Amino acid sequence: MKFLITGGAGFIGSHLAARLLDRGDHVVALDDLSAGSKKNIEKFSGHSQFTFIEGNMLDRQVLNQASQGVDGIFHLGAALGVKRILERPLESLITNLHGTETVLEVAAGSKIKTFIASTSELYGKNPEQPLREDSDRVIGSPLLVRWTYSEAKAIDESLAVIYGSTHGLPFVIGRFFNTVGPRQTGAYGMVLPAFVKSALLGAPIQVYGDGSQSRVFCHVDDAVEGMMRIFFDDRALGQAFNIGGNGEVTISQLAEIVIAETGSASKIEYVPYEKAYPKGFEDTMRRIPDTTKILQLTGWEPKKDLRKIIQDVAMQIRTEI
Ligand SMILES: NC(=O)c1ccc[n+]([C@@H]2O[C@H](COP(=O)([O-])OP(=O)(O)OC[C@H]3O[C@@H](n4cnc5c(N)ncnc54)[C@H](O)[C@@H]3O)[C@@H](O)[C@H]2O)c1
Repeated sequence: MKFLITGGAGFIGSHLAARLLDRGDHVVALDDLSAGSKKNIEKFSGHSQFTFIEGNMLDRQVLNQASQGVDGIFHLGAALGVKRILERPLESLITNLHGTETVLEVAAGSKIKTFIASTSELYGKNPEQPLREDSDRVIGSPLLVRWTYSEAKAIDESLAVIYGSTHGLPFVIGRFFNTVGPRQTGAYGMVLPAFVKSALLGAPIQVYGDGSQSRVFCHVDDAVEGMMRIFFDDRALGQAFNIGGNGEVTISQLAEIVIAETGSASKIEYVPYEKAYPKGFEDTMRRIPDTTKILQLTGWEPKKDLRKIIQDVAMQIRTEI
């Protein structure tokens, strides 16, 4: 089979490409390299079943060309990371809204099965945890740029649902919760690679706020497996699924675990939010996935724990510093 991955030179996209190539599929990776990199896909560059197109998914012509003859689209292209959204708000919002709109238009025209990469950010600051797929969205003011990622991804999901009902588009939505692993960049506010890099350099580990905010991390290998399970199971069509790990940790605890796992002498430094982020930021205190739905349908469960995630990320970062 042949698949298009938008954002195919990105973090999750490049891991997905590897999985599909391993299965014997053909992969077309479309990426404008705004956040992804050729390094992420260099190991497939000579692969006869891999094609890379450097281009913008907002460009319909590019997208038409990239989707020629494909059996499915994994739409992962997006602008993400809190820092990036705050520093480049307009470009990010346009990418996340119109990028998906363009992909869905093209997919719907030929009824190409499409995976939409959505996010736990969708749930905003809903205090009722763990978060189920039917949990409410509790979102801050639209005047705060920070929420535009959540807003755009919610509209993306609605667009998919509407293309499903009006054009018969087959689609499935995966809502990723804090997906981490090798090749993720720490540049846009992704906490785990940033902590591991600081730990390996012996630099202070900067915890924003008081560190009591918590997250659950999921290894990218597990996330890719979850994505594949729902994409290739027709019972999942037209639905959204949480894809997230096990084990809640506060960000302070995460810093301590990273220090212990890497044997680092780094100290933890607490940085007030006002100093860490441009205006318009507001954190979510907890974000815990309920993954019962994907487990019950497909038997998927995350397999790799936080220590394994840190080891894998550290192994990759060691090769770069
Ligand atoms: N990593 C996570 O924890 C996480 C959590 C929730 C949701 N997601 C979603 O998963 C998807 C993949 O995220 P990721 O972590 O791999 O991030 P990433 O930044 O590594 O990947 C996104 C890719 O999209 C590319 N891109 C951006 N705009 C583009 C455009 N206009 N045309 C073509 N390519 C473009 C970027 O260059 C990048 O390679 C995204 O849709 C993201 O919103 C990720």
